[in-house]
Amino acid sequence: MEKSIILLRGDGIGPEIVDGAVTVLKKVEAKYGHTFRIQPELLGGASIDDCGKPLTEETVTACKQADAVLLGAVGGPKWDAISVENRPERGLLGIRSALGLYANLRPAYLYKELADACPIKEERVRGGIDLMMVRELTGGIYFGKRKTVTRENGKKTAVDRMEYSEEEIERIGIIGFEQAMMRRKKLVSVDKANVLDTSRLWRSVMHRLSEQYPQVEYRDQLVDSAAMQLVSDPGQFDVIVTENMFGDILSDEASMAAGSIGMLPSASLGDGTRGLYEPIHGSAPDIAGQDAANPLATILSAAMMLRISFGMEEEAAAVESAVQSALTKGFRTRDIAAPGQAVVGCREMAKVVADAV
Ligand code: IPM
Ligand code: MG
Repeated sequence: MEKSIILLRGDGIGPEIVDGAVTVLKKVEAKYGHTFRIQPELLGGASIDDCGKPLTEETVTACKQADAVLLGAVGGPKWDAISVENRPERGLLGIRSALGLYANLRPAYLYKELADACPIKEERVRGGIDLMMVRELTGGIYFGKRKTVTRENGKKTAVDRMEYSEEEIERIGIIGFEQAMMRRKKLVSVDKANVLDTSRLWRSVMHRLSEQYPQVEYRDQLVDSAAMQLVSDPGQFDVIVTENMFGDILSDEASMAAGSIGMLPSASLGDGTRGLYEPIHGSAPDIAGQDAANPLATILSAAMMLRISFGMEEEAAAVESAVQSALTKGFRTRDIAAPGQAVVGCREMAKVVADAV
């Protein structure tokens, strides 16, 4: 098969981890006889430096014409002083929105080999952790009107608006239920219905949908309680569906249950098969350029791309078992190494995985 992939390497460790995933994709190409037409475009700080803004029309057009987009991470201290409307992160939100990618799938899985890297007590994770966070990605407070005004007394007031329509809730709710149907058929919808109107609407739409999925064991949970349960008993969760900001926060929390934020991939999807695939972690400017980053979240994101956008189930499974085998053989980047354990760099980890495909 021939497929086109846009690479948005971004900033910080972004280029290193994306290149690691490309090493693995090249092996898949050779082994399975595919052709991946890979083209880099700019996003985030790299785009600000080159074109004066975090997302250009050229990048949007290239992504719209591609079969999939593989993204590293954006942002860093270099661009911290820029106004919120022009920061690197704005480019990321812009491309998610321009491609209509309202559904963000973030699986958190604890590999047995990484039990030592998981900061949660062993007896609380003994049963394993295998959950899917379904995060709404193009609505809510991330995309509501925001402004900062200076009042008459010289003090400022800032406003960020959170808004959800029934249609937006329904389409992400359906993804949540469908994911549950493909997995262990348990869905928790996370909201703050004891305070927020958006959450009360969210809950009513979810209840309506739950009648259409009688096979799915459904419950609502308040976000504060879900945050607590994610560290006290993470194994109870199968699929969690939630709004944009709650999903951002809870997915970082869930990544700790999986041992390291360097392990969590994600897929951002809209109505078609085109998707954007990225690790859930950030650009880690403190370790950028040192060959110290963990490429596994990006490699696992590439596996999701093979499966979801290209329908290459066998190839995706081969990449996932190659990751498993690298861990079984004891290869560890710094973030997932136990004290005293030998550590490999980003490039070597990618090569080990590619060789195992
Ligand atoms: C994520 C990141 C982004 C988000 C940032 C970089 C804008 O934290 O993908 O989780 O908040 O969505
Ligand atoms: Mg985040």
